[in-house]
Amino acid sequence: MPIAWVTLLIIESFNWQITESNNNAKNLQVIYPDISENELMKDMKTISLSLGVECRYCHVVIKEGTVDTAPMYDAASDEKQTKLIARDMMRMTNSINTNYLAPIVGDKKSRLITCVTCHMGHITPVSHIDSLFIH
Ligand code: HEC
Ligand code: HEC
Repeated sequence: MPIAWVTLLIIESFNWQITESNNNAKNLQVIYPDISENELMKDMKTISLSLGVECRYCHVVIKEGTVDTAPMYDAASDEKQTKLIARDMMRMTNSINTNYLAPIVGDKKSRLITCVTCHMGHITPVSHIDSLFIH
């Protein structure tokens, strides 16, 4: 095959991948990799609110923001322990839903659990009955 054709094929398959995945993420291991950029950001805002934290709680800041600009993150980096725990929490939540709740709730998908079920806007969930009376 002439070299020009090979190049053309490679460029074509590369373009196809970009349209197919529709986001710039390089390191999604739990979230469906073809998720749209909008949906990914919606999910990230939801988990931030669920724990009452900002993006930097899990992601490395590479450039601080100013009054006019938002901070820049290396969101693909796995440097922060909190991001690794969050990824395991996603796996745990999926597993509880699939293995234990799906058979009970049937098509009532809104009865499945999410991060907010336990975290309720806090980093540390209430784990013991005693804590309910301290706060
Ligand atoms: C509680 C931790 C946590 C918070 C807070 C959080 N993220 Fe994430 N984020 C993750 C995890 C975990 C992944 C990887 C998911 C996976 O592996 O499927 C991820 C992945 C991403 C990715 C994809 C990176 C790549 O290239 O793979 C982007 C972009 C991102 N987050 C942006 C944000 C933004 C913007 C915010 C704030 C609105 C935010 N995240 C808040 C945990 C968090
Ligand atoms: C079934 C309850 C439950 C669910 C659901 C849950 N978590 Fe957790 N999470 C916990 C508990 C318990 C801890 C341990 C808190 C502690 O350190 O005492 C924890 C710890 C964490 C931590 C570490 C906090 C720290 O100490 O820095 C992160 C990050 C986290 N969860 C993210 C998430 C995310 C993101 C989701 C949703 C994908 C989620 N969790 C869903 C119960 C839950």
